Amino acid sequence: MSIVKEMFGTTANGEKVNKFTLTNKNETEVVLVEYGAAIQSITVKDKNGIKRDVTVGFDDMDGFENRSDYQGVIAGPYANRISNGSFKIDGKLFELDKNEDGVKTLHGNGEYSTRIWDSVITNDSSVEFSYKREDGLFGYPGNIEARIKYTLKDDDSLTLEYRCVSDKKTFINPTNHTYFNLGGYDSGDILSHKLKINADEFTPVDEHSIPVGGNQKVENTPFDFREFKEIGRDIDVNTEQLDNTGGYDHNFVITGKQKEMKEAAIAVCEATGITLTVLTDLPGIQFYAGNFLKGTVGKNGLPMNKRTGFCLETQYYPDSPNHPEFPQCLFAANKEYKSTTVFKFGLTE
Ligand code: GLA
Repeated sequence: MSIVKEMFGTTANGEKVNKFTLTNKNETEVVLVEYGAAIQSITVKDKNGIKRDVTVGFDDMDGFENRSDYQGVIAGPYANRISNGSFKIDGKLFELDKNEDGVKTLHGNGEYSTRIWDSVITNDSSVEFSYKREDGLFGYPGNIEARIKYTLKDDDSLTLEYRCVSDKKTFINPTNHTYFNLGGYDSGDILSHKLKINADEFTPVDEHSIPVGGNQKVENTPFDFREFKEIGRDIDVNTEQLDNTGGYDHNFVITGKQKEMKEAAIAVCEATGITLTVLTDLPGIQFYAGNFLKGTVGKNGLPMNKRTGFCLETQYYPDSPNHPEFPQCLFAANKEYKSTTVFKFGLTE
């Protein structure tokens, strides 16, 4: 294992941003950057030994700052959407900035994803990023100290360990927003990838992508990924749920015990043989098929077109502060939020 720290670039304001290159014994390489505590690239060997960067995103700071659809970054303090940008804690109403269509909050108003996080190499395979947010920023309560530690192991797993503590009772729900393409970032759309999601239910949403309440069985719907299925097979089937979101962009309810590590999803690209298994102790996973990517310039000057990457964002369900029927992520002052997600890469047999 080795970790090399170098400069990645400078922001428009002239702030320096470092990157860390983690390499294991298989020459699997993960590049992390301080901006957004992001995964900038993950390079693994395919079935023919050819190295492929399997993440869609940017190779320069300008991309992260000016062309971002959250590629690679940490979203938070509350990932995904909060309806009307408001919630109550102990009867007190909090009104947040509404950065999506002026009617709701998405990904914590981009707070975690646009900050330069502090960083430290904690051992020969881990880098930990930390960021202290200020109480009240974007209307969101709590001075939160957020940490994410990335560890690359020789089994080609990348572990993400989140730890957050607030000085006030607040909702805590960070996630990583990497767009994967197991054919390589430059291989076109992800529709022929096969995907399996360990979920009997998903969370239906309205036309604003806000949960309507409760969960729905995946059985006999395009959301049934209990057996491997091509992402593209049913993505354009004419149903209210897929029409509301323009393709998959939904929370799946991971089957299994709360707070235990579970296999949440497996994605396979047959052309390269590269597989990705996502494990987590969180209750939900947002499968987003990159429907909103619209050709902005990414790595190597190539356009990131619609559905050229997919996200598997481990999380508490969207808008859970306004849905008492969902698992809750309201943490008392000084009570630590802890969660672990693993992205494990492999090859088909
Ligand atoms: C999340 C959301 C999507 C979209 C992306 C960012 O995955 O669920 O609807 O907003 O972030 O483009």
